[in-house]
Amino acid sequence: MKIDLIETPKYLDKEVELFGWIDVRRDHGKLIFFDLRDRSGKVQLVVTPSDQDLHKIAETLRPEWVIRVAGRITARPDNMKNPNEPTGEIEVKVSVIEVLAESKTPPFDLASDGREINEESRMRYRYLDLRRPRLKKNLVERARVVKFVRDFLTERGFIEIETPILSKSTPEGARDYLVPSRVDAGNFYALPQSPQQYKQLLMVAGLEKYFQIARCFRDEDTRGDRQPEFTQLDLEMSFTSREEILALTEELYLSLVRKLYPEKKLTLDPDGRIPAMTYREVMEKYKSDRPDLRRDKNDPDELAFLFVVDFPAFEWKETEKRWDATHHPFTKPRVENVEQFRQEFKEKPGEMLADQYDFVLNGYEIGGGSIRVHDPELLRAVFEALGNKTEDIEAQFGHIFEAFRYGVPPHGGIAPGIDRFVMILMGEPNIREVIAFPKTGDGRDLMMGAPSKVSKDQLKELGIEIKKKK
Ligand code: AMO
Repeated sequence: MKIDLIETPKYLDKEVELFGWIDVRRDHGKLIFFDLRDRSGKVQLVVTPSDQDLHKIAETLRPEWVIRVAGRITARPDNMKNPNEPTGEIEVKVSVIEVLAESKTPPFDLASDGREINEESRMRYRYLDLRRPRLKKNLVERARVVKFVRDFLTERGFIEIETPILSKSTPEGARDYLVPSRVDAGNFYALPQSPQQYKQLLMVAGLEKYFQIARCFRDEDTRGDRQPEFTQLDLEMSFTSREEILALTEELYLSLVRKLYPEKKLTLDPDGRIPAMTYREVMEKYKSDRPDLRRDKNDPDELAFLFVVDFPAFEWKETEKRWDATHHPFTKPRVENVEQFRQEFKEKPGEMLADQYDFVLNGYEIGGGSIRVHDPELLRAVFEALGNKTEDIEAQFGHIFEAFRYGVPPHGGIAPGIDRFVMILMGEPNIREVIAFPKTGDGRDLMMGAPSKVSKDQLKELGIEIKKKK
């Protein structure tokens, strides 16, 4: 019978078949002990000298070799029992060993939590790094979080919809990753910085409640909480309000934490709600738009959520000498009509507020969203106010204006980042620790060797010529 290693104590005195990696080997005179490891845990194997052939094979085994064993589960002698280990009361008396794969000596220790090992080797040998229980656990927990989110939203009538990766630039404020078209040589797709425009177009399409576990791509400097590709829980609703979106977000996150991580301490308002503060309040009180509201910052299990609302609609970009949208241009400024918008933007652009909100946890921005401008005339006025020329607006966003002429429902949404949330839940200092194959600080995948050169033929097909930097 083939069973997971963590299940072994249930099969006392039974014959079982086990698969896994050699974790450590200890020789005690004639007895050879191994820890066998699989995804579920570890178990102690013992090979006695009575079967000489078996003993010979056992002597050759080294850490990280992959083996199949058959044997009987037996109780350990009392003085060998380890009640602190899930399988510490038993061991497996091995009768068959089959080597399925040998292993070179790993370039670094796989038993530690890995934090002391240099980043470059960890990334180059990520498949070994991920054998570490800490990282494996992070991936397992991430999957549980995403599953909870999917179930929660699906039960509430949301439809999970995939949107394209080969797309067109959408303004989230970072540089785009571009993909050259072969068929249409000289033209480029942009990888989405977020599914922002698609989700709004899904509202025009009448889907009403959309969500997606969406991959986003932004060519910006990598930091502890920033990767060039990352994942959002992207959602959008029609006929909604800020209150409804924040209440949904609150219910989702509080029920997730209570169900999956009951040991965590939630720091909430006295009425049991996630606190909400205006941008002005947090800036005055904490000098930050993502304050850390934990009562005890040494407590790894404390979670202090916060909604920051009423952001300024526009901010001055000194480098470009122009006003830009604080969030993105689709965010609704708090005005009644186009005339009021034009008037206020002329007089006091810096004081205008937007129906925009951020979601904050323990000092990190874990999400952002807004009610959108659904009046095409107002949207055009916003783009113009931000210094876009009419022909540029048409070329870049003509499809949105066209769509909005066919009955666009009022809509809004939010997009919490999955990586940052899981990082905080797992008590990790960096989102790389909760992403299976992250990029290094300079945006490389050292394991795959990406980015990499491509062949002359590929470039030719794309009509691209590489010029050497002088
Ligand atoms: P925004 O740009 O604020 O909004 O992104 C939403 C959330 O995504 C996460 N995030 C990141 N996580 C890791 N690495 C990055 N480089 C990175 N960039 C952003 C953050 C952030 O709060 N379309 C809008 C949402 C909307 O209006 O509905 C958007 O993308 O947790």
